[in-house]
Amino acid sequence: MKGLIVYASKTKTTEKCSKILSEELDFKMVNIKDKKPDISNYDVIVIGSYIRMGMIDRQIKKFIIENKEKLLKKKCALYLCCGVQENMDKYFWTNYPQEILECAILKECFGCSLDVNKLKGIEKFVVKMMSKKNDTLKEKCINEKSIIKFVKTIKEIK
Ligand SMILES: Cc1cc2nc3c(=O)[nH]c(=O)nc-3n(C[C@H](O)[C@H](O)[C@H](O)COP(=O)(O)O)c2cc1C
Repeated sequence: MKGLIVYASKTKTTEKCSKILSEELDFKMVNIKDKKPDISNYDVIVIGSYIRMGMIDRQIKKFIIENKEKLLKKKCALYLCCGVQENMDKYFWTNYPQEILECAILKECFGCSLDVNKLKGIEKFVVKMMSKKNDTLKEKCINEKSIIKFVKTIKEIK
């Protein structure tokens, strides 16, 4: 099976997860900011996005809407990088079309990694406010177990 990973990342966490997936699965990876990939020749499509203010990346959202019919005919696996993992279901259901969620073989959250010191202005303020309320954000780690599980499931269908 031939696979493609399409992702968007602001501060490189989603990209880091894409790299792990790409190496483990031997799938090509494409940053949506660089290229709008043609998914026709692939059997498995992995789509990864970060969450900011409850929203996935705008270009990933557009890509899914534009490719919806094609995606519905493929094996599609979704992952998010976000700080508040317990909101994962809410983030999926508010950001992705229902048909895509229903046919997706995987919907996972890989956690987050955040260096508040690298953020500026309003972004720094928002994250500081979120960190006060949420311990997960303070831990700032990628959930490697989720990535391993995700890879294993995809290898099983390969
Ligand atoms: C400005 C800002 C807003 C964020 N909003 C949310 C949010 O609403 N929910 C959440 O779970 N995580 C939120 N996060 C945490 C990010 O999802 C997390 O840092 C993620 O790893 C970012 O992925 P990236 O490094 O690929 O951009 C926010 C982070 C920033 C900087």
